[in-house]
Amino acid sequence: MNIIIVLLCVLVITAILSWKWGRYYLGFKLPGPPALPLIGNLLDVRSRDFTVLFHEMNKYIKNHGPVTRIWLGPVMLIFVSGPEEIAKVVGNDKIGHRGKYSLRILSPIFNKGLLAQEEMSVWKIHRKIVTNAFHNNMLNKFVDNFAKNSNILANRLKELADGTNAYDILPYLCLCALDIITQTCFGQNINAQINNDMMAVQYNKTILDSTQIRLSDPFLMFDWAFYLTEIGKKYKVAVKYYHDLIKGVIDDRAINAKSKEELSKSPTLMDYLIQNGQLSKEEIVGEISSIGGAGTETTATLSTFVLAILAEHQDIQEKVFEEQKTIFGEDILRPVTSDDLPSMTYLEQVINETLRLYPPVIGHPRETIKEYGIGNGYILPVEAQLLICAYPLHRNPEIHPAPDKFDPERFTPENVAARHPYAFVPFGVGRRMCVGYKFAYMETKAILSTILRHFHMMEIKGGLEGIQKNIHCSFVLTVTDGIHLKFKPRKYAILKTQ
Ligand code: HEM
Repeated sequence: MNIIIVLLCVLVITAILSWKWGRYYLGFKLPGPPALPLIGNLLDVRSRDFTVLFHEMNKYIKNHGPVTRIWLGPVMLIFVSGPEEIAKVVGNDKIGHRGKYSLRILSPIFNKGLLAQEEMSVWKIHRKIVTNAFHNNMLNKFVDNFAKNSNILANRLKELADGTNAYDILPYLCLCALDIITQTCFGQNINAQINNDMMAVQYNKTILDSTQIRLSDPFLMFDWAFYLTEIGKKYKVAVKYYHDLIKGVIDDRAINAKSKEELSKSPTLMDYLIQNGQLSKEEIVGEISSIGGAGTETTATLSTFVLAILAEHQDIQEKVFEEQKTIFGEDILRPVTSDDLPSMTYLEQVINETLRLYPPVIGHPRETIKEYGIGNGYILPVEAQLLICAYPLHRNPEIHPAPDKFDPERFTPENVAARHPYAFVPFGVGRRMCVGYKFAYMETKAILSTILRHFHMMEIKGGLEGIQKNIHCSFVLTVTDGIHLKFKPRKYAILKTQ
């Protein structure tokens, strides 16, 4: 009997080892930098300097091509950055698992929300509910809120518009995006702009920084190890702040439900989810945190990058402004409406070209659920942790000639049609693609239209070259020490204000 048990144990261990060895073998055959035994490439990747980390990752990909494998200790991470290779991933991604490694890190803040939902049958139901919540009718009703908060932003920026000094405007844009998301999605007015609530910005930064640190350090994957660190303790406080905020609104609605009339006038995503009735309180907290987490820094940094680029490219700024004049005519400073947004086609080209050069989310995590070929004889093992990488894809000269040149003409309908469908993926690909991309375009257009009608962007401190040197990824692409802009108010012969 004992011998049978021993034999069985040996068989099981051999099976596990050969399965693991098979995966590792396939992993080692993929292109990638040399790795040390056990720790792999950790010495290079465990940097707390996000600028170094960002440039190091991109160097790996530049040297090893559209499929690059690195080892974070025992974790095999594969960067996928070619359109054909991405097409293979999408074609084989019938399920769309985010992957164990990223889920463990994303779960505490996003709970069981879309971004971190691992149970695919649950994800499917939630994704349908959230997608329905973002229908065009609802989004159009949000535009009044985008306009209101953009005008508050413009008023705050007036103090800085002296045309002489350069100021870091990123925190201003972050507070505006935070007000927009908390009012349209949470149904809660935290007045972050009016109160200059830098605490909320700090909480966001803590969440993003700690997520990035955990992503590049597998030792901190274990919750107990992470929460022992200083950043882990701060993270806990920041997450609690957001979760309490959301729970407060749910509890309030349980007592003071909005009337039908109130709901149709100012719908919020939270009310939609509560009324839908299919989600529990915890699930709603997860969904709203996912949306808040995914939709704040992303739109704020995108808008800031656009303003910076327009400061450097005066001719393009003039063209954007001409389009605004055509849309707003004499009443140039009136609030933007949902009818104005579709006419801002040149501004949309500028936004897309900025998303190409500075995609706010540089890696989209996936996990393979079966083994499959990805071209050039390379095979992805099962349970490989993949990162679809937008930044190196968007800067590949074979796909986007003269890739560092800012040229919105790349996004005319004819030029878009001539490119590979996966040559430009700022909002991700396949079934896990960003659920809020229409919201993001509408919000960004509303903010930029307001700011560019009020102000003329003059100069970036350090120029775009300085920005390029200092970009880093703290979960969202940003710039060390911020983006400092010099700008001044526009003067109109007949000034009509709202
Ligand atoms: C410039 C702005 C934005 C960018 C660049 C962006 C980008 C992305 C990317 C790359 C993903 C992952 C896609 C994938 O894995 O294939 C994602 C997911 C997501 N985004 Fe966005 N996003 C933006 C704004 C927003 C906004 C405004 C919202 C909500 C209001 C939002 C909500 C979400 C959610 C909930 C997910 C998870 C979807 C899922 O896993 O099913 N995003 N976004």
